[in-house]
Amino acid sequence: MRFILHTYGCQMNVRDSEAVSALLAAAGHTPVSHENDADLIIVNSCSVRGKAEDKALGKLGLLCAAKRERPNLIVGVMGCMAQRLGPDMFKRLPALDFSVGPRRCGAIPRLVARVLAGETGLLETAGPDETPDVPDVHAVSGFSAFVTVLFGCNRRCAYCIVPDVRGSEYSRPAREILAEIAALARNGIREVTLLGQSVMNYGRINPVWDDSDAPSPSGYTEPFARLLEAVAAVPGIIRIRFTSSHPSGVTDQLVRAMRTLPQICHHLHLPVQSGSDRILRLMRRGYTREDYLGAVRRLRAAMPDFALTSDVIVGFPGEAEADFEETRSLMDDADFDNAFIFKYSPRPGTPAADMEDDVPDTEKMRRNQVLLEDQDLRGAAANQRLIGTFQEVLAEGPSLRNAARWSGRSPGNKIVIFDPPPGGLQPGTLARVRITRAAPQTLYGELANDCP
Ligand code: SAH
Ligand code: SF4
Ligand code: F3S
Repeated sequence: MRFILHTYGCQMNVRDSEAVSALLAAAGHTPVSHENDADLIIVNSCSVRGKAEDKALGKLGLLCAAKRERPNLIVGVMGCMAQRLGPDMFKRLPALDFSVGPRRCGAIPRLVARVLAGETGLLETAGPDETPDVPDVHAVSGFSAFVTVLFGCNRRCAYCIVPDVRGSEYSRPAREILAEIAALARNGIREVTLLGQSVMNYGRINPVWDDSDAPSPSGYTEPFARLLEAVAAVPGIIRIRFTSSHPSGVTDQLVRAMRTLPQICHHLHLPVQSGSDRILRLMRRGYTREDYLGAVRRLRAAMPDFALTSDVIVGFPGEAEADFEETRSLMDDADFDNAFIFKYSPRPGTPAADMEDDVPDTEKMRRNQVLLEDQDLRGAAANQRLIGTFQEVLAEGPSLRNAARWSGRSPGNKIVIFDPPPGGLQPGTLARVRITRAAPQTLYGELANDCP
């Protein structure tokens, strides 16, 4: 079969799609880049907001309709919405061939084989505590890869559907993760991003180390700090990122690992959601505004070049103008390099869905717009401040816009454009670039490999 995957949602889904591609290729199927060339189309869906589900459902509706003209076309859905809707998925889309929850995506090649043998309407979802059947194979090119280390989430923030659809926390054994990363490194991967919904919770529920009590070579006892140290020791891995984080995970050991292990990028995506203590409590986030800002202060004190990005929700039930203004000022105090702003969307079955969604949509839009404009200015100023600094850039290759120049990413995950040296540059190596110009989304600079 020639197949294509359409992926919605977060990096977890990007990683799951990539793993499924690798499995399908191993089963003899061929990836294609255009839908019209495919005879197997899979939509990897997200449930986090109503709009995300609408998008995936709309796409699936079109694909199922196309089956009338293309009777051999196989259409499947995977991901969070497949888990949330369960058997209802087929009530909505009777022509769908299979639906697979995120903990079961390893089953897809088998399901495809069954559909080819004549079955249809196949459902595979997992209970919240079942061990995930997610493959450790990769289909990546380039120098960066995602590696899932922690599945699910036990935090149950009041607004969030993720714990319902991804299930409870399950941490993969460190041994497995390290073997996967070593294999990636042998295939040319230089940067790994470790994934988990609250990734620093790694190893808090189930044991992950064979010798769970032994401190690591540098004296780390927390499972996640130990993992960071062990990943940094994998030959060939020159950069480590991890996401998402929660302020409770910003421990002394984590800060020490970030400061002392040279492979770890000095960047965190640390979603704050709100700057109002009252709303944070209603959201059940488990920290106050001051806890959050305290964590940021500790990170900045340890790493002067620390970059911070975040997520914010506007229009949570009961969010008054005064609460919103607190979010606005927190974003200034925390000085985010970048932030994603979301309008609150009630998710069925979550605690917040029982509260009145009382902020009108026009008001959510206004608050969203105000924060976006603030953030644009703040982000541009943050980039301006980088002019004159040296950034370590993972050189990827010629830039898409201008092949004479090269591009790569800074530790803060910003795109950096620079001229390659006359003798050329090895892609996948770190280049030292002095920043000379800054646009809102991009930094420009010159190679400074022999400067101090
Ligand atoms: N586990 C991650 C978040 C995953 S969801 C974390 O806690 O860091 C990504 C973002 O979507 C969240 O940070 C939040 O800002 C937003 N989000 C989640 N549920 C939402 C909802 N019901 N309405 C609007 N935004 C939501
Ligand atoms: Fe959702 Fe909260 Fe878990 Fe993040 S930490 S996935 S926002 S419940
Ligand atoms: Fe969406 Fe599932 Fe990620 S709901 S945000 S794809 S965990």
